[in-house]
Amino acid sequence: PRTAPILVASNRGPVSYTLGEDGSLTARRGGGGLVSGLSAIGPESGGVWVCAALGEGDREAARRAGDSHLNPGDTGGQQVRMLDIAPDVFAAAYNGVANSVLWFVHHLLYQTPVEPVFDAEFAEQWAAYESYNAAFADALAQEAVDEAVVLVQDYHLALVPAMLRERRPDLRIGHFSHTPWAPPDYYRMLPDEVAAGVLRGILGGDRAAFLTERWATAFADCCAAVLGAEIIRDGGGDGGAGGMAATAVRFEGRETRLGVHGLGADADFLRERSRQADVDERLSTLRAQIGPGRKSIVRVDRTELSKNIVRGLLAYRRLLETRPEWRERVVHVAFAYPSRQDLAVYRDYTERVRRIADEINDEYGTEGWTPVALHVKDDFARSLAAYRLADVALVNPIRDGMNLVAKEVPVVSERGCALVLSREAGAYAELGEDALVVNPYDVEGTARALHEALRMSDGERADRTKRLAAAATALPPQAWFLAQLRAL
Ligand code: G6P
Repeated sequence: PRTAPILVASNRGPVSYTLGEDGSLTARRGGGGLVSGLSAIGPESGGVWVCAALGEGDREAARRAGDSHLNPGDTGGQQVRMLDIAPDVFAAAYNGVANSVLWFVHHLLYQTPVEPVFDAEFAEQWAAYESYNAAFADALAQEAVDEAVVLVQDYHLALVPAMLRERRPDLRIGHFSHTPWAPPDYYRMLPDEVAAGVLRGILGGDRAAFLTERWATAFADCCAAVLGAEIIRDGGGDGGAGGMAATAVRFEGRETRLGVHGLGADADFLRERSRQADVDERLSTLRAQIGPGRKSIVRVDRTELSKNIVRGLLAYRRLLETRPEWRERVVHVAFAYPSRQDLAVYRDYTERVRRIADEINDEYGTEGWTPVALHVKDDFARSLAAYRLADVALVNPIRDGMNLVAKEVPVVSERGCALVLSREAGAYAELGEDALVVNPYDVEGTARALHEALRMSDGERADRTKRLAAAATALPPQAWFLAQLRAL
């Protein structure tokens, strides 16, 4: 039934279900900018969020819902339609194409002398990715009222804009990339039909938006290099594109506007949430674990190759080696939450993180001091507690679309926190001036930055944190979401 005037499409939806032994379904609300962003339009807007059923609970919920929507009261009131996509198609599209190939290309993660290998298995996975995208396009085409606005999210769904336009030329379609975009010479390692297919897919929309100008420009460069598309530089912008050099891409007689919306931290939510009792409780536990009079270097990530956790640990080891004055006076609190464990390279990476943390503890630990406190169990309240007490936050990704941890820490921090930030994170464009900026590959340089951060005076740290917090909250999720709607 065509009922929805505003639609969001993403692989991971705003809610997930667990199936109890008695057959009951429990809904759990997810976090993230998109979920808070969508709350800006409220339940009365008639918005529908189309997403994939991820686990068994989701699949059961989708089956029980049949043709009607799921409406879990705690997802900000949005109606949800979960697509029960065949497990082998889903696995090939999500693990094989999206999270291995597209994620790896945009984050420059391939070790190019040996990877990637595009063989017959990949060709099958690509076909699955196409049918997974088509399932989204079909559902969106069924749901959308005439001239509805559709916001398609991320690299999982790059083909949806063009597929949807074919089915419903009346719609206003935008695509938003939450990742970086690869530069053309790297992007072109994709098989030609894949490289062109992804770009053509996104160009099927009216608008392609990114977290920073750097990624938008790289996208335009790829369109020119791979498709021979024309880049329009009219200096105009459409409400999101500011004074960007490239403002639109013209291809096969159509124009797709480019936009930039630097998602910020949700200050109101974070300040409120981080003062709740469960966070206080974890704060005491963490304080006891760190020990009196010691400083803390905090990091919070998914255990994700692009987050560069291993080099972060190596830099910390180098700090303890070259600056013995910090031994017994600092603890590295590292939260590395499990992610994408279906992929062997993620499992191996997780093992390496554990091993190096253990090595450092064996090498330098003493009776009363454990240099690295590694936590792998996901716990948002504990992350907030760590933000409150951190003296230094380490955010050193190889590449990152934005990185919200860098933006959340200054908002929640109690006494001010020095931020060591990779120049390759999207957040660098907004926070670079008040952070200690590092080249993420340079372990020695990162160790030096950690030392500087630990030595920073209380006054300077507080001043910088204040400015970081202001920059980090310039575009909160609700405003970010509305700006995209308005631009479309
Ligand atoms: C990145 C992507 C998101 C994705 C998230 C978690 O932030 O841009 O689209 O949802 O990682 O990854 P997962 O594979 O668990 O959804």
